[in-house]
Amino acid sequence: MTAPALALEGVAVNRAEVPVVHDVSLEAAPGAVTVVLGANGAGKTTLMDGIAGLAPVKSGTIRLDGTAIEKLQPYKRARAGLGYVEQARTTFRTLTVEQNLIVSQSADGDIATVYKLFPELEKRRTLQAGYLSGGEQQMLVLGRALVSAPKVVLIDEMSLGLAPLVVRRLMSTVGELAGMGIAVLLIEQFANLALDVGTHAYVLRKGGVVFSGPCEELRGDDERLHRLYFGGPPLSAAGTDAADESELE
Ligand SMILES: Nc1ncnc2c1ncn2[C@@H]1O[C@H](COP(=O)(O)OP(=O)(O)O)[C@@H](O)[C@H]1O
Ligand SMILES: [Mg+2]
Repeated sequence: MTAPALALEGVAVNRAEVPVVHDVSLEAAPGAVTVVLGANGAGKTTLMDGIAGLAPVKSGTIRLDGTAIEKLQPYKRARAGLGYVEQARTTFRTLTVEQNLIVSQSADGDIATVYKLFPELEKRRTLQAGYLSGGEQQMLVLGRALVSAPKVVLIDEMSLGLAPLVVRRLMSTVGELAGMGIAVLLIEQFANLALDVGTHAYVLRKGGVVFSGPCEELRGDDERLHRLYFGGPPLSAAGTDAADESELE
Protein backbone atom coordinates (compact mmCIF):
# COMPACT_ATOMS: atom_id res chain seq x y z
CA MET A 1 0.00 0.00 0.00
CA THR A 2 1.16 3.55 -0.76
CA ALA A 3 2.39 5.51 2.26
CA PRO A 4 -0.19 8.12 3.24
CA ALA A 5 0.55 11.72 2.28
CA LEU A 6 -1.49 12.85 5.26
CA ALA A 7 -1.79 10.85 8.47
CA LEU A 8 -3.63 11.86 11.63
CA GLU A 9 -3.31 9.98 14.89
CA GLY A 10 -5.47 10.62 17.92
CA VAL A 11 -6.17 14.20 16.93
CA ALA A 12 -8.28 16.48 19.14
CA VAL A 13 -9.27 19.98 18.03
CA ASN A 14 -10.93 22.74 20.04
CA ARG A 15 -13.14 25.53 18.79
CA ALA A 16 -13.29 28.64 20.94
CA GLU A 17 -11.89 26.65 23.92
CA VAL A 18 -14.58 23.98 23.50
CA PRO A 19 -13.42 20.43 22.63
CA VAL A 20 -15.15 19.56 19.34
CA VAL A 21 -13.05 16.91 17.59
CA HIS A 22 -11.61 14.03 19.61
CA ASP A 23 -9.31 11.09 18.94
CA VAL A 24 -9.48 11.20 15.15
CA SER A 25 -7.10 8.92 13.29
CA LEU A 26 -7.25 9.14 9.53
CA GLU A 27 -5.12 8.73 6.44
CA ALA A 28 -5.20 10.15 2.93
CA ALA A 29 -3.22 8.39 0.22
CA PRO A 30 -1.59 10.18 -2.71
CA GLY A 31 -3.49 9.81 -5.98
CA ALA A 32 -6.78 9.11 -4.23
CA VAL A 33 -9.82 10.97 -2.96
CA THR A 34 -10.54 10.28 0.71
CA VAL A 35 -14.04 11.29 1.75
CA VAL A 36 -15.12 12.72 5.12
CA LEU A 37 -18.87 12.66 5.70
CA GLY A 38 -21.07 13.61 8.62
CA ALA A 39 -24.14 15.62 9.59
CA ASN A 40 -24.09 19.36 10.08
CA GLY A 41 -22.20 20.17 13.24
CA ALA A 42 -20.34 16.83 13.34
CA GLY A 43 -17.00 18.64 13.41
CA LYS A 44 -15.84 18.28 9.80
CA THR A 45 -14.81 21.90 9.31
CA THR A 46 -13.21 22.01 12.76
CA LEU A 47 -11.14 18.96 11.83
CA MET A 48 -10.03 20.59 8.55
CA ASP A 49 -9.20 23.82 10.40
CA GLY A 50 -7.14 21.77 12.84
CA ILE A 51 -5.20 20.14 10.00
CA ALA A 52 -4.59 23.51 8.34
CA GLY A 53 -3.64 25.23 11.61
CA LEU A 54 -6.63 27.55 11.85
CA ALA A 55 -7.96 25.87 15.00
CA PRO A 56 -5.79 24.58 17.87
CA VAL A 57 -4.82 20.91 17.86
CA LYS A 58 -4.94 19.89 21.53
CA SER A 59 -3.46 16.43 21.19
CA GLY A 60 -2.36 13.90 18.62
CA THR A 61 -0.10 14.11 15.59
CA ILE A 62 -0.62 15.25 12.01
CA ARG A 63 1.98 14.09 9.53
CA LEU A 64 2.47 15.41 6.02
CA ASP A 65 4.67 13.04 4.05
CA GLY A 66 5.92 11.69 7.35
CA THR A 67 6.78 15.05 8.95
CA ALA A 68 4.82 16.26 11.98
CA ILE A 69 3.12 19.57 11.18
CA GLU A 70 0.62 19.98 14.03
CA LYS A 71 2.72 22.63 15.75
CA LEU A 72 3.50 24.68 12.64
CA GLN A 73 1.94 28.02 11.72
CA PRO A 74 -0.68 27.75 8.96
CA TYR A 75 1.56 29.33 6.30
CA LYS A 76 4.30 26.83 7.07
CA ARG A 77 1.85 23.96 6.66
CA ALA A 78 0.86 25.45 3.31
CA ARG A 79 4.50 25.74 2.33
CA ALA A 80 5.03 22.11 3.33
CA GLY A 81 2.45 21.14 0.70
CA LEU A 82 -0.97 21.51 2.29
CA GLY A 83 -3.68 23.21 0.22
CA TYR A 84 -6.99 24.17 1.82
CA VAL A 85 -10.16 24.99 -0.08
CA GLU A 86 -12.25 26.46 2.72
CA GLN A 87 -15.98 26.10 3.14
CA ALA A 88 -16.73 29.75 2.35
CA ARG A 89 -15.30 30.14 -1.12
CA THR A 90 -13.21 33.25 -1.42
CA THR A 91 -11.47 34.92 -4.32
CA PHE A 92 -9.97 38.38 -4.58
CA ARG A 93 -13.01 39.89 -6.24
CA THR A 94 -11.34 42.97 -7.70
CA LEU A 95 -8.37 41.05 -9.11
CA THR A 96 -8.65 39.29 -12.46
CA VAL A 97 -8.88 35.53 -12.72
CA GLU A 98 -5.24 35.33 -13.73
CA GLN A 99 -4.08 37.69 -10.97
CA ASN A 100 -5.91 35.50 -8.47
CA LEU A 101 -3.89 32.54 -9.69
CA ILE A 102 -0.61 34.44 -9.75
CA VAL A 103 -0.87 35.54 -6.11
CA SER A 104 -1.33 31.93 -5.01
CA GLN A 105 1.33 30.49 -7.26
CA SER A 106 4.35 28.77 -5.79
CA ALA A 107 7.64 28.21 -7.59
CA ASP A 108 6.49 24.77 -8.74
CA GLY A 109 2.92 25.84 -9.52
CA ASP A 110 1.72 25.91 -13.12
CA ILE A 111 -1.17 28.13 -14.26
CA ALA A 112 -1.42 26.26 -17.57
CA THR A 113 -2.44 23.14 -15.63
CA VAL A 114 -5.32 25.07 -14.08
CA TYR A 115 -6.49 26.32 -17.49
CA LYS A 116 -6.32 22.80 -18.86
CA LEU A 117 -8.53 21.61 -16.02
CA PHE A 118 -10.87 24.60 -16.30
CA PRO A 119 -11.00 26.03 -19.85
CA GLU A 120 -13.80 28.30 -18.54
CA LEU A 121 -11.22 30.16 -16.48
CA GLU A 122 -8.84 30.66 -19.36
CA LYS A 123 -11.64 32.29 -21.35
CA ARG A 124 -12.20 34.69 -18.46
CA ARG A 125 -8.58 35.23 -17.47
CA THR A 126 -8.82 39.05 -17.71
CA LEU A 127 -12.21 39.29 -15.99
CA GLN A 128 -12.43 40.45 -12.37
CA ALA A 129 -13.18 37.43 -10.20
CA GLY A 130 -16.20 39.17 -8.67
CA TYR A 131 -18.02 38.80 -11.98
CA LEU A 132 -17.65 35.02 -12.17
CA SER A 133 -20.61 32.71 -11.55
CA GLY A 134 -20.67 30.71 -8.31
CA GLY A 135 -19.40 27.61 -10.09
CA GLU A 136 -16.59 29.49 -11.82
CA GLN A 137 -15.57 31.09 -8.52
CA GLN A 138 -15.30 27.63 -7.02
CA MET A 139 -13.19 26.53 -9.98
CA LEU A 140 -10.92 29.51 -9.32
CA VAL A 141 -10.65 28.60 -5.64
CA LEU A 142 -9.67 25.05 -6.63
CA GLY A 143 -7.28 26.50 -9.21
CA ARG A 144 -5.66 28.65 -6.54
CA ALA A 145 -5.09 25.59 -4.38
CA LEU A 146 -3.60 23.79 -7.37
CA VAL A 147 -1.05 26.48 -8.33
CA SER A 148 0.46 26.20 -4.87
CA ALA A 149 1.70 22.75 -6.06
CA PRO A 150 0.23 20.89 -3.08
CA LYS A 151 0.80 17.31 -1.98
CA VAL A 152 -2.45 17.27 -0.05
CA VAL A 153 -5.61 19.29 -0.72
CA LEU A 154 -8.41 19.65 1.83
CA ILE A 155 -11.74 20.53 0.20
CA ASP A 156 -14.59 21.58 2.47
CA GLU A 157 -18.10 21.53 0.98
CA MET A 158 -17.28 23.16 -2.29
CA SER A 159 -20.76 22.32 -3.60
CA LEU A 160 -22.57 24.59 -1.14
CA GLY A 161 -25.23 26.58 -3.01
CA LEU A 162 -24.22 25.37 -6.48
CA ALA A 163 -26.45 23.73 -9.11
CA PRO A 164 -26.22 19.91 -9.32
CA LEU A 165 -24.75 20.02 -12.82
CA VAL A 166 -21.96 22.33 -11.65
CA VAL A 167 -21.34 20.13 -8.64
CA ARG A 168 -20.92 17.08 -10.89
CA ARG A 169 -18.44 18.98 -13.03
CA LEU A 170 -16.45 20.00 -9.94
CA MET A 171 -16.50 16.45 -8.58
CA SER A 172 -14.97 15.07 -11.74
CA THR A 173 -12.23 17.69 -11.42
CA VAL A 174 -11.57 16.50 -7.89
CA GLY A 175 -10.95 13.06 -9.40
CA GLU A 176 -8.50 14.66 -11.84
CA LEU A 177 -6.60 16.34 -8.98
CA ALA A 178 -6.13 12.89 -7.49
CA GLY A 179 -5.09 11.68 -10.95
CA MET A 180 -2.19 14.14 -10.72
CA GLY A 181 -0.95 12.31 -7.64
CA ILE A 182 -2.41 14.69 -5.06
CA ALA A 183 -3.97 13.29 -1.89
CA VAL A 184 -7.44 14.85 -1.71
CA LEU A 185 -9.44 14.96 1.51
CA LEU A 186 -12.99 15.77 0.48
CA ILE A 187 -15.80 16.91 2.75
CA GLU A 188 -19.14 16.91 1.02
CA GLN A 189 -22.84 17.28 1.74
CA PHE A 190 -23.80 15.37 -1.39
CA ALA A 191 -22.58 12.08 0.06
CA ASN A 192 -23.25 9.95 -2.99
CA LEU A 193 -21.38 12.23 -5.37
CA ALA A 194 -18.40 12.18 -3.03
CA LEU A 195 -18.59 8.40 -2.60
CA ASP A 196 -18.57 8.01 -6.40
CA VAL A 197 -15.26 9.83 -6.74
CA GLY A 198 -13.71 8.60 -3.48
CA THR A 199 -11.79 5.47 -2.50
CA HIS A 200 -11.91 5.45 1.29
CA ALA A 201 -14.53 7.09 3.49
CA TYR A 202 -14.72 8.27 7.08
CA VAL A 203 -17.90 9.31 8.84
CA LEU A 204 -17.69 11.75 11.73
CA ARG A 205 -20.34 11.99 14.42
CA LYS A 206 -20.08 14.30 17.41
CA GLY A 207 -16.43 14.93 16.66
CA GLY A 208 -15.38 11.27 16.50
CA VAL A 209 -14.92 8.74 13.70
CA VAL A 210 -17.81 6.22 13.60
CA PHE A 211 -16.98 4.63 10.25
CA SER A 212 -13.80 3.98 8.31
CA GLY A 213 -13.99 1.82 5.20
CA PRO A 214 -14.12 1.66 1.43
CA CYS A 215 -16.52 4.12 -0.25
CA GLU A 216 -18.25 1.26 -2.03
CA GLU A 217 -19.56 -0.02 1.29
CA LEU A 218 -21.64 3.12 1.70
CA ARG A 219 -22.43 3.95 -1.92
CA GLY A 220 -26.17 4.24 -2.46
CA ASP A 221 -26.97 3.05 1.08
CA ASP A 222 -28.75 6.14 2.36
CA GLU A 223 -30.27 4.32 5.31
CA ARG A 224 -26.90 3.23 6.60
CA LEU A 225 -25.48 6.69 6.08
CA HIS A 226 -28.37 8.17 8.02
CA ARG A 227 -27.71 5.82 10.94
CA LEU A 228 -24.02 6.64 10.85
CA TYR A 229 -24.78 10.35 10.82
CA PHE A 230 -27.33 10.37 13.59
CA GLY A 231 -26.93 7.08 15.48
CA GLY A 232 -29.79 4.68 16.11
CA PRO A 233 -30.26 0.92 16.10
CA PRO A 234 -28.19 -1.07 13.61
CA LEU A 235 -30.03 -2.50 10.58
CA SER A 236 -29.60 -6.18 11.40
CA ALA A 237 -30.47 -6.21 15.08
CA ALA A 238 -29.71 -9.94 15.26
CA GLY A 239 -26.37 -10.82 16.76
CA THR A 240 -25.47 -7.38 18.01
CA ASP A 241 -26.43 -5.47 21.08
CA ALA A 242 -24.87 -2.17 20.11
CA ALA A 243 -27.23 0.70 20.84
CA ASP A 244 -25.65 2.88 18.22
CA GLU A 245 -24.22 2.01 14.88
CA SER A 246 -20.59 2.74 15.36
CA GLU A 247 -18.55 0.50 13.18
CA LEU A 248 -15.27 0.85 14.96
CA GLU A 249 -14.47 -0.97 18.11
N1 LIG B 1 -16.66 29.51 16.12
C1 LIG B 1 -17.22 28.58 16.89
N2 LIG B 1 -17.33 28.74 18.23
C2 LIG B 1 -17.87 27.79 19.00
N3 LIG B 1 -18.35 26.62 18.55
C3 LIG B 1 -18.28 26.40 17.24
C4 LIG B 1 -17.71 27.35 16.33
N4 LIG B 1 -17.80 26.85 15.10
C5 LIG B 1 -18.37 25.63 15.21
N5 LIG B 1 -18.68 25.36 16.50
C6 LIG B 1 -19.31 24.14 17.00
O1 LIG B 1 -18.47 23.05 16.69
C7 LIG B 1 -19.22 21.94 16.27
C8 LIG B 1 -18.72 21.44 14.94
O2 LIG B 1 -18.89 22.44 13.96
P1 LIG B 1 -18.26 22.27 12.50
O3 LIG B 1 -16.87 21.83 12.64
O4 LIG B 1 -18.53 23.53 11.77
O5 LIG B 1 -19.15 21.09 11.92
P2 LIG B 1 -19.44 20.65 10.41
O6 LIG B 1 -18.42 21.28 9.53
O7 LIG B 1 -19.35 19.16 10.45
O8 LIG B 1 -20.83 21.11 10.09
C9 LIG B 1 -20.68 22.38 16.24
O9 LIG B 1 -21.31 21.87 17.38
C10 LIG B 1 -20.61 23.87 16.28
O10 LIG B 1 -21.70 24.38 16.99
MG1 LIG C 1 -18.59 22.52 7.87
